[in-house]
Formats: sequence, structure tokens, C-alpha cells
Amino acid sequence: MLKTKTIAIANQKVGVGKTTTAINLASALGTLDQKVLLVDADPQANASSGLGVETISSKSLLKLFDEHGKTSEQIIQTHSPNLDLIPSSIKLADLEINNKSENVYKLKNALDEIKSNYDYLIIDCSPSLGYISINSFVAADSILIPVQCEYLAMEGLNKLLKTIKEIKANFNKTLDIEGLLITMYDKRLKHNQHIIGELKQYFKDLVFNTIIKRNVSLSEAPSFGTNIFDYKIESEGSDDYLNLSRELLTNRNAMKKTTQILGKNIHQIMDDNNESVTLETPKRKNHLKHFEPFDIKKKNYNKLKGLTKEEVIKSLGLVYNDIHSDTWMYRVSDRATVFRKNFLYLSFVNNQVQNIELRRFRRG
Ligand SMILES: Nc1ncnc2c1ncn2[C@@H]1O[C@H](COP(=O)(O)OP(=O)(O)OP(=O)(O)O)[C@@H](O)[C@H]1O
Ligand SMILES: [Mg+2]
Repeated sequence: MLKTKTIAIANQKVGVGKTTTAINLASALGTLDQKVLLVDADPQANASSGLGVETISSKSLLKLFDEHGKTSEQIIQTHSPNLDLIPSSIKLADLEINNKSENVYKLKNALDEIKSNYDYLIIDCSPSLGYISINSFVAADSILIPVQCEYLAMEGLNKLLKTIKEIKANFNKTLDIEGLLITMYDKRLKHNQHIIGELKQYFKDLVFNTIIKRNVSLSEAPSFGTNIFDYKIESEGSDDYLNLSRELLTNRNAMKKTTQILGKNIHQIMDDNNESVTLETPKRKNHLKHFEPFDIKKKNYNKLKGLTKEEVIKSLGLVYNDIHSDTWMYRVSDRATVFRKNFLYLSFVNNQVQNIELRRFRRG
């Protein structure tokens, strides 16, 4: 089994989609059977409230900065499958402002206590490069940087990259950049395409293939205290974040041996502003594209038993998750039930469907 991966979602620019990404990426990874802990490291506590968690809760990230707080005691289960949360509270702001400690390893040490229980730790950072964000960068294996598709998208990126580089040099040698994620893309706006072109030209393969489109359901979901999959599974936002989670999982497998090269590239990008920088990261695979939901009432799933992967693809289309894995997951659209989120899980043994299970994830 791969060891736990900790990803901090950061950009000191306000409102670029950090929290939306943190909630929905963490939830998507959960539905893909990854065990995930979301850490709300922003005093605004938007990730906590966006998942319907009361932030006056006695459990809080604040306690991890306290000598006496036990990490496992700050964790709560969310209604989203395989997703736990360490909530934030407004009191974290005091820590950020009045903090006397210079210990940048506090969060890392606290998270190390429980890390092995998870496949992913996702940290939602605040729009600042203060004490808590620095602690998050030290605790992280990589940083995912959401960039809003708008003019001045790159504004502030240099400062962020410099900070990451300093942390890498002084406190966390293996720190990497997970990728730049373009958010709130609107194809009707001409300049949006232009901005994508510029970001790709400068950052090359560090830009995720998945682009998060502007989608009103993504902005509505948090006020119902839930993620996009509970709120509107048939939305574009839901597709985009599932695609992102699959891309992340694929990269994790494909890039295991390329961190060194990637590190060098980051170094190059941050070291000189030379236009001729060449990036050598392998092309990201995105072999799984878009999947049509299908109608549960018309299908007799037991007929799938014994079919090969090729035959399943013929009858159901491509899978949501990694095609090479032996557990496949299909989204099921079933408007006839009260369940909002249904997935069909197929388990293969020797390239044949052995087990079929319909999992229904209830709303909160
Ligand atoms: N793809 C999207 N489509 C539509 N609205 C979006 C999208 N992504 C984010 N939003 C909305 O934009 C606003 C800012 O998003 P979000 O809170 O995720 O940003 P943030 O970077 O976490 O902000 P902050 O810097 O305050 O922490 C929110 O109202 C959110 O609902
Ligand atoms: Mg936020």
C-alpha cells in the first residue's frame, strides 16, 4: 500500500476556489474508496460549515497547536463516505495573529499521530501565508494551487512559489507541487481560453488536465452543508471534481519515480524567470473521459456477473475510477428513489466480474 499523501490546497489570493476544491476533492476521493481526512486550517471555517459541521464544536484544529490536544480526539466523521474532518474555529484567528511560537512543525507532528489511518490528508489553507499556512506546508507532501481563470490569475503566484521553495529548502525537503488547478472557467468568455493558454505555456504539465468550470451548483452546495455529490450529482461540477480526483490518483501511480525531476522543475520555475525553461514531467494520462449516467430501472445488474472488463465497458461505458484497478465504480442515476447518490461497484477476479454491489449514499 502507498503511504499517506498529504496535500495542502493553497493560494493566498482570496476566493479562488481553495475551499470548494478541498471539500469536493476530499469527498470525491472518499467515494473512490480512499480514506480521507480533511483538515480545515482556515479560521473562516468554510470547509467545516460547507460540510454541515457546527464550528462551535469542542473539537478543533486549534487543539493541535495546544500541547495537550490529542489529534485523534479532534476528528469527526462526516456524512460523506470515507471522509473525516478536523474542523476549524474562529479562535484560530487569535493563533494566527498573536502566535508567539516559531515552531513550524506543530501541525506536522500532530498529524503524524493519525496519518497512517488515511490514504489522503487534504488541508484547506486560508488566504494568507501566515503561521498556520506555513505549518500546513511543512506538514504537506505537496501543494495543490487553485488558480481562478481570470485576468491577473498569476498575480501573487511568484510569492507563493517563493514561500514553497523556502519551506522546501529549510523545513521540508521533499515538498512538491501537486499541480495548478484552473477554476471557475467559463467557456463563453473569450479571455478565459487565453488565460488557460498562458498558464499552460508557463507552467506546462504542472497544470492539471482537469479544468473546473464555473458551475452554480458548486456555489450552492455549501449552504446546504454538503458536497456537490450529495447536492447535485448530475452537475458539471460533480463531473469536474470526480475527474480531478481520478487524475490525482492516476498521477500518483504514474509519477512515483518522477518527484526528483518534478522537484528540479519547480526549482527552475522559481529560480529564474527565464522563458526558455524546459519541463520534463511525463505527459499526464487522461484516458478516462466523460461518463453518461445510466438508468437503474432498465438494467439487470446480475447479468454483469462473469463478464470481462472489455465486455463491461461495452455495455456500461468507461469507469469512473482507474481502469486498471479491480474495483470499478459506476455512477447510477436513479431519480425514482430518495437516495441522491448511487454507485455501482463491480469487483473483478481474473478479469471477470465476481461481485456486484449497489451502494447508496444518503444525504446527511
Ligand atoms: N467552480 C465554481 N463555480 C462557481 N462558483 C464557485 C466555483 N468555485 C468556487 N465558487 C464560489 O466562489 C467563491 C469562492 O470560492 P472558495 O470559497 O472555494 O474560495 P477560497 O479560495 O477558499 O476563498 P478564501 O480565500 O476566502 O478561503 C465561493 O462563493 C464559492 O462558492
Ligand atoms: Mg477558503
